[in-house]
Amino acid sequence: MKLKKLTIGSTELPGNLLLAPMADVTNLAFRLLCRQYGADLTYTEMINADALINENRKALMKGLTDQEDWPFGVQLVGNSPESLREAALLVEEELRPVVIDVNMGCPAKCITRAGCGSALLKSPEIVHKIISGLVDSLETPVSAKVRILGREEESLEIARLIEDAGALALTVHGRTAEQMYSGSSDLGQIRAIKNEVSIPVIANGDIRDEESAEHALEFTGCDGLMVGRAAMGNPFIFWRIRHYLETGEKLEPDPRTRQFEDFEAYINLLEEYGILSSINLRMQAQWFTKGLHGSRHIREKINGLKDAKSIIELMKSSCRKEY
Ligand SMILES: Cc1cc2nc3c(=O)[nH]c(=O)nc-3n(C[C@H](O)[C@H](O)[C@H](O)COP(=O)(O)O)c2cc1C
Repeated sequence: MKLKKLTIGSTELPGNLLLAPMADVTNLAFRLLCRQYGADLTYTEMINADALINENRKALMKGLTDQEDWPFGVQLVGNSPESLREAALLVEEELRPVVIDVNMGCPAKCITRAGCGSALLKSPEIVHKIISGLVDSLETPVSAKVRILGREEESLEIARLIEDAGALALTVHGRTAEQMYSGSSDLGQIRAIKNEVSIPVIANGDIRDEESAEHALEFTGCDGLMVGRAAMGNPFIFWRIRHYLETGEKLEPDPRTRQFEDFEAYINLLEEYGILSSINLRMQAQWFTKGLHGSRHIREKINGLKDAKSIIELMKSSCRKEY
């Protein structure tokens, strides 16, 4: 039994498998689906702190969470300790998440140019100010999600500083910002960080199946695992990893129908929570067809379709043809 309970602040989660925050992916419906399949904690897509306090508060909060959506974390992105504090207070009051996370890892130019995401890692004093400001003002536990830095000592310094500022958890993606998504996640640095601090450390990067999950947990000694890209179009991955960590046994390969069944369940949830119109359905359908026999052909066809029902029909008929 390798699945452990992860505790963040006063919340003890049933396990330690987390869904990564992912922009344009981890909307409420997708998070609920992953939760049904065993994700123990899910995060919202990153929310811009300045936008939240200045412009789009109502729009940004709409459809973000629901009673069924528990436990969840909210991730904020920003670079001003004051704006982040103000935004976090709003989030705490209106949404009551288990944890408020600060994005210190996003390498996208549009984010780093504004001094946010991974750009923060170059300014340790601001990192400290942001975290300690949040910790002093909030009742909700605060966490940070970082990437590693070029030299291990720099990564350890940032980790120590985040702990010292009062964060109650730290997620580490084992790539530098410069790497973006190239190369592989450096589990050695994640392990060094885990050994350096006393707060729970969550390992992230390249966890894509049962073996990589087991290896990451064993090698790093981390308190939790966070799955990102491997869950896109494949929320069932949480069930697989969970089952494996609990029993040591792997589930049978997925039936071919799983992807469209999951996609249909996803569409139903998007409709139920009124967020279907706000997502790029065709793009998401592409993820759910990954690995299906003839998926290239299916994807080409999806591009010509407009509504959810015809996409589901296409996926169903493509699966039927294989039997
Ligand atoms: C489409 C996409 C959107 C992402 N959006 C966010 C985000 O909003 N906040 C964040 O901290 N990381 C974001 N990430 C990074 C992931 O959370 C994760 O750290 C990264 O994908 C590495 O994990 P993986 O190898 O399991 O995918 C995003 C990644 C992808 C692929």
